[in-house]
Amino acid sequence: MEVAHIGGERFFAKGGFMNRIKTIPVGIALLLLTVLVLFGMARAQGEAQPSDPAAYFKAKCVACHGQKAEKKFDPALTDDQYLDAILKGKKPEKPPNMPAYGEKGVTAEQAKGLLEYMKQLRSAQ
Ligand code: HEC
Repeated sequence: MEVAHIGGERFFAKGGFMNRIKTIPVGIALLLLTVLVLFGMARAQGEAQPSDPAAYFKAKCVACHGQKAEKKFDPALTDDQYLDAILKGKKPEKPPNMPAYGEKGVTAEQAKGLLEYMKQLRSAQ
């Protein structure tokens, strides 16, 4: 009886020790996860998203199209042609080329938002 009792105590002591050992990797994993989530949030805030046309235009399009979308924008084209240019890109006779933003994750809906924003900038000139 007594031996069994001691054995039981040892078992529990060992169990407690083992549990503590097991919580260390779990703690590290949680810490890493927290760091990753915080890093992801900082990145999402720092990088312009195509869902925000004004910020995205400023970050990605101004360099070629100008602050007021006054450059490289033929007012005679149709909306379908503009949207095609945004999503699939366009190669004029001389570089630079219009990049295909569909490949960079811009959706058709977001391309419409960008086009509307460009038109707004142009009409404000
Ligand atoms: C590297 C330079 C460059 C960047 C960056 C760029 N574009 Fe363009 N874009 C062009 C060129 C060049 C054309 C073609 C102009 C032509 O056909 O003469 C064009 C054409 C277009 C057109 C069609 C209008 C036309 O006259 O062909 C739209 C709309 C457009 N871009 C929107 C955007 C948007 C929105 C962004 C940002 C998400 C963007 N562009 C980023 C260079 C660029």
